[in-house]
Amino acid sequence: MKKKILVTREVFGEVLEFLAKDFDVTANQEDKVFGSDELARVLADKEGALTSIVDRIDEALLARCPHLKVVCNIAVGYNNIDLTACTAHGVMATNTPGVLDDTTADFTWTLILAAARRLNEAEAYVRSGQWDKWRLKQFLGLDVHHATLGIIGLGRIGQAVAHRAAGFEMEVLYHDVRRAAPEIESACRARYVSKEELFSRADIVTIHIPYCPETHHAVGAGEIGLMKKSAILIHAARGGVLDDAALVDALGRGAIAGAGLDVYENEPSLHPGFLKLKNVVLAPHIASSSEKTRFRMAMMAAENLAAALTSGNPPNLLNPSARKQ
Ligand code: DGY
Repeated sequence: MKKKILVTREVFGEVLEFLAKDFDVTANQEDKVFGSDELARVLADKEGALTSIVDRIDEALLARCPHLKVVCNIAVGYNNIDLTACTAHGVMATNTPGVLDDTTADFTWTLILAAARRLNEAEAYVRSGQWDKWRLKQFLGLDVHHATLGIIGLGRIGQAVAHRAAGFEMEVLYHDVRRAAPEIESACRARYVSKEELFSRADIVTIHIPYCPETHHAVGAGEIGLMKKSAILIHAARGGVLDDAALVDALGRGAIAGAGLDVYENEPSLHPGFLKLKNVVLAPHIASSSEKTRFRMAMMAAENLAAALTSGNPPNLLNPSARKQ
């Protein structure tokens, strides 16, 4: 008998075909979002799950899923999974690192350029039929070339963002909990500075750290308060790292010039203040969403799942102590 698995959200057909070769797959191609009770019910008799960032895998759920051996997130971030609870229940958890770095870095630059050059405001102006003549002082923006870029978190995605800054001949500063190896710093042409120096000197600050209890509101009123009035803040990491209310307040007062966001606290709900502001570019958590990359992420998660349930040894395992010897 094939082992039963659940794919919690819509995925590419090829991914389901790959899984169906070895597993009895319950799919959700209607893309319904399961509430926690419903997720526990559909997962109760399953040994594996392909999960998304909106599925909470916690103690309450695991206690109701006695057969579960592996959860494979289709994401590099895994703050929706309680790893301690998984380990206690002998449930392996995996993620999809590496495959989305370049696509996410590309989108970070999309936000940087759009926010710096006020593309959202300019486009809305054209679409609404208000454009009547060329003006010298129309939608004056911030030059990105030769500006100072401040990167919070020089991990894989932060580094990919830094590499792209070379084309704009920028000065690159970074801050992280740990200083990067000299070869990484020189490949990124990035200089390690304190958080205070980064926020006060950068023209563009971009956040690339994961969300966990230690990084909750790592960027808040204090940090934003150090930024220049002409500076912009970019966030395509994970909701909760940035204090959204503090940013709404700063943008509303004109304390900084603008922002570009892909992720939010409590998404898909937004702080209502964002919708009233013109100086913020808002995207719906799509930084990794290119055709190729989202396919690779889903296939990588499926491969993690297949390996976990056949060899017990999946790549990209986040909690090796959950593995049965
Ligand atoms: C990730 O991989 O963590 C992304 O945020 C999902 O889109």
